[in-house]
Amino acid sequence: MTDRYANSRRLFERAKLCIAAGVNSGIRKMEQPVPLYFQRGDGPRVWDVDGNEYIDFQIGQGALLYGHAPAGMADAIAAQAKLGTHWAAQCELEIEVAERLQKLIPSAERVRFSNSATEVVLSALRLARAHTGKPLIVKFEGAYHGWADEGLVGFAPPPDKWGDAENPTRLHPSQGVIPGVLDTFVVVRWNDPAHLRRQVQKHSGQIAAILFEPIPCNTCCLEPVPGMIETIRELCDREGMLMIADETITGFRFAPGGAQESLGFVPDLTIFGKAIGGGVPFAALAGKVSAMQKIIEGTVIHAGTLNGNPLCLAASKWCLDHVLSLGDQHPSVVTALGQRLMAGLRSLADQHGVPMRPQGPGPAFHAVMLKSGAAEGPVTDYRDYVQRHDGPRWLHLRRCLLDHGVRAIERGLWFVSLAHRSSDIDEALQKAEPALAQHAREWLHLEAAKSTNS
Ligand SMILES: Cc1ncc(COP(=O)(O)O)c(C=O)c1O
Repeated sequence: MTDRYANSRRLFERAKLCIAAGVNSGIRKMEQPVPLYFQRGDGPRVWDVDGNEYIDFQIGQGALLYGHAPAGMADAIAAQAKLGTHWAAQCELEIEVAERLQKLIPSAERVRFSNSATEVVLSALRLARAHTGKPLIVKFEGAYHGWADEGLVGFAPPPDKWGDAENPTRLHPSQGVIPGVLDTFVVVRWNDPAHLRRQVQKHSGQIAAILFEPIPCNTCCLEPVPGMIETIRELCDREGMLMIADETITGFRFAPGGAQESLGFVPDLTIFGKAIGGGVPFAALAGKVSAMQKIIEGTVIHAGTLNGNPLCLAASKWCLDHVLSLGDQHPSVVTALGQRLMAGLRSLADQHGVPMRPQGPGPAFHAVMLKSGAAEGPVTDYRDYVQRHDGPRWLHLRRCLLDHGVRAIERGLWFVSLAHRSSDIDEALQKAEPALAQHAREWLHLEAAKSTNS
């Protein structure tokens, strides 16, 4: 049998001899059967070095909201590249991008640009501590806010390390973290406003900010229960804490003004990444003048050689103009496509007896794969997710989907981009059918082999 991924395998073996572990972001090692190497992308499709074509729902981990290589964006970047990629100084483009953000997002009274959302998270937390003079940050259990020391506190802990439900662990998944960082966090369970209230009360007068992803897309697309976001806002107002929305994924995706528009709240600070640059390294901190004051007066340092470089600004300007041009149409089209894909996948899964339950708003959703005997119904928080989602089984299905030309994210997340059309969803479902059949067949054998061996 020919190996569908032979060229990727060859390149990965070569990469391991020069790139640490063969990849430039740890999570990419997860891809089965081998981390894939790509040659080109066009709209919702991408081609690997073996010539395999995929309908792409990984879409640059969500950064490619506009699809692969949109022509207008490529032209904007090329035109800017000819004029200069980097001046480490001011240019009118940065004002143009900032003004577009102000137009799209009412809470973006002032902005600062960076190169990644990880950096922006660090800026936001530093700013919050300086603004309030308080040391602690509240974050939600299991949540991912970038790969730096602070963004990973309490990220994805295994069940035997959870701690009791009242005091979730602050366990860090990495070695080498600055001593003491963990002590500056309070970890709270998502979708339990009463728990948040108790923890804020317990640490009253010590908390600088509540950091949250309005719809935790990294943790199963957990839509907030009624009262969750309102409680965050109310407690921040009452205690003088800053409300920091991490809209790295939700920004521009769930509404032109992000989740703060679709869910109807006004944060003090917002973190934007991914779709703000459409695939170039660009990110922004946005906030009310009052919350940004320490950066405005210069007592909180925010700097960076490549911040606001014209190459990325040209790309971002094109992206934001695209969002602005969609007007009321956004996100209804992408939501309808996503919901149709979710329903179609669910129906195919049912046909093949596969316990997959897509959940989420549509522009992003998570393919929950129920463990044997797990209860039905929407997953609501991190612990529920870990207890009911069968990660290895999903990874097996994901690999079968790849074999049939459909690409989703290793942890179960799917993104629908503005480049996907109705015909792409139809085709993805046609391709998913044999993938689900293959998965159902192979999984049965794997399970049977497991029980024979045990
Ligand atoms: C919610 C959230 N915050 C922050 C980040 C970090 O973004 P970046 O990888 O651009 O540093 C991510 C990345 O996936 C994210 O999903």
